[in-house]
Amino acid sequence: MADADAPEPAYQADALIAEDIDAYLALHQNKELLRFLTCGSVDDGKSTLIGRLLYDSKMIFEDQLIALEADSKRVGTQGQAIDFALLVDGLAAEREQGITIDVAYRFFATEKRKFIVADTPGHEQYTRNMVTGASTADLAVILVDARKGVLVQTRRHSYLAHLLGIRHFVLAVNKMDLVDYEQAVFEQIAASYRAFADTIGIEEVTAIPISGFKGDNITQAPSANTPWYDGPSLIHHLETVELESAAAQARPFRMPVQWVNRPNLDFRGFAGLVAEGTAKPGDAVRVVPSGKTSTIKSIVTLDGQLDEAVAGQSVTLTLADEIDCSRGDVIAAADAPPEASDQFEATLVWMSDEKLIPGRAYWLKLATQTVGATVHEPKYEIDVNSLEHLASKTLGLNAIGVAEITTDRPIVFEAYDKSRQLGGFILIDKLTNGTVGAGMIHFSLRRAQNVHWQALEITREQHAALKNQKPAVLWFTGLSGSGKSTIANLVEKKLHRMNRHTFLLDGDNVRHALNKDLGFTEADRIENIRRVGEVARLMADAGLIVITAFISPFRAEREMVRHMLPEGEFVEIHIDTPLALAEARDVKGLYKKARAGELKNFTGIDSPYEEPERPEIRIDTTAVTPDEAADLIVDKLIR
Ligand code: ADX
Repeated sequence: MADADAPEPAYQADALIAEDIDAYLALHQNKELLRFLTCGSVDDGKSTLIGRLLYDSKMIFEDQLIALEADSKRVGTQGQAIDFALLVDGLAAEREQGITIDVAYRFFATEKRKFIVADTPGHEQYTRNMVTGASTADLAVILVDARKGVLVQTRRHSYLAHLLGIRHFVLAVNKMDLVDYEQAVFEQIAASYRAFADTIGIEEVTAIPISGFKGDNITQAPSANTPWYDGPSLIHHLETVELESAAAQARPFRMPVQWVNRPNLDFRGFAGLVAEGTAKPGDAVRVVPSGKTSTIKSIVTLDGQLDEAVAGQSVTLTLADEIDCSRGDVIAAADAPPEASDQFEATLVWMSDEKLIPGRAYWLKLATQTVGATVHEPKYEIDVNSLEHLASKTLGLNAIGVAEITTDRPIVFEAYDKSRQLGGFILIDKLTNGTVGAGMIHFSLRRAQNVHWQALEITREQHAALKNQKPAVLWFTGLSGSGKSTIANLVEKKLHRMNRHTFLLDGDNVRHALNKDLGFTEADRIENIRRVGEVARLMADAGLIVITAFISPFRAEREMVRHMLPEGEFVEIHIDTPLALAEARDVKGLYKKARAGELKNFTGIDSPYEEPERPEIRIDTTAVTPDEAADLIVDKLIR
């Protein structure tokens, strides 16, 4: 594929790519892979450095990386040696165009290892991109300009990289040619960086004086210009630093179960990616959270049985005993199992334009587990430039903060600094399905471990049986003045007459007592509905038919309550009255006040109402009277 006019291939690899791509791919397949991140801005010479690494080793562009990873034969045409300056210009331009979008991944390889460089935009507003690039990296190259030294952004990048679990840091003091290769300049920058790194807990820093432009100490060290330097060249360091995958193998065994493979009655295997450690047939294992133990019978892969499974491998385990184990469980070393908890503290990086809403239910995904989770009001937000802790009630786009999180059932986890796989999670908006945040678990909260469920002797079924009814929660929702309370009252009366045990919870009343500390901000309304949901659940557990009349303007919270109850017990009833009509009636005179600006956050005026998409029952109050509406509802219930 090299055309006749192309410059001579600089390396053997070029010829190999051109002539025998299969041999080339095979050559790389067995090499260790180091993933690293470059931090710094274009001004610091980031593109030049990356260009230099690609140029001095064997550059391969992204499309070829995909080809390599997928082991396919698709290879781009850019594999030949090209002019260094052109290459750097190209990289810089590409970076600028892509700056708001994403992380650029570049691939290169040397004799010893292959490398994936995540090139992330350096500005503060792209924190979330850095999260993407850093969460799988083994090492971070922190680039500083020898003329400028350690800057605010150097500290920000280092802090984030450390936060995301990177253990190995290279301080590349670049543009040494522009300071006459002065040892004192290098030493002073290295010392000031080390002092900072110490304060945030970075344990390993390798400082290297380089010139990306001239090539000093990139492949060989010391360069003739820095005879005083006695450390490794950048490439040599990248080729020899300990890989995260090697460290992971040394930790206790953990495999989050992805799916249960049961092709026939004789075979039951648990498939997943080994997150940590190694395991052999005969090893004792424990399934968490159930705590059941067994031993590994066999380790199966597409290529046959293995004597050992190691971190990073996808395998299917069979166990010696028939024990319960399903997707989301973790199979772990029996004597060193991970914890399970439903409350923990974590650092969160917010990645959405929509602010964090404390109290709202999000999906939390950790390894193969997906659970409902709510985030409490942050303890503090971290100013990524000064590293100061600031008081904050929420987190906006790119903000980082520490908060407590409660999940709706216990999840198996480890502290992020022990395991990125079991300590890192993402939060997902339940309605849009978009990822809104990433988190790193610190520890579980002791109160979650110490407050246990008390097993109750009389079950909810027994409570209901005595009352001769099926419990339910009739959840009325609609605008203020839509007629919720009126219809709910009529429904209760009719049910009562039919000897049903009911209880009505009404917004105006509950807000005078249980929820008198709450107002009408978004957060307060969410807490209002959460509490009412919990009370309704308890009452349903007691066997009652619970009727609630709250505006409950947000879909997410109504869905949250739906999921608190057994399937079929939550009946959403939309009292559908057009805003104009509710406002015209204005039973309590509140719309008038809201229009006059005397009442803030009024639903329908300056606070949203999200209509139910698929309510079990919809009442069009322009078409039926309250009494007819109540009959409709009771009829539907009986049926
Ligand atoms: S909810 O939004 O949190 O579900 P809830 O049903 O408890 O509201 O309370 C609504 C009642 O509070 C309304 O019927 C009205 O009487 C009163 N109210 C006072 N201020 C507001 C407001 N800003 N928005 C809506 N209702 C308000």
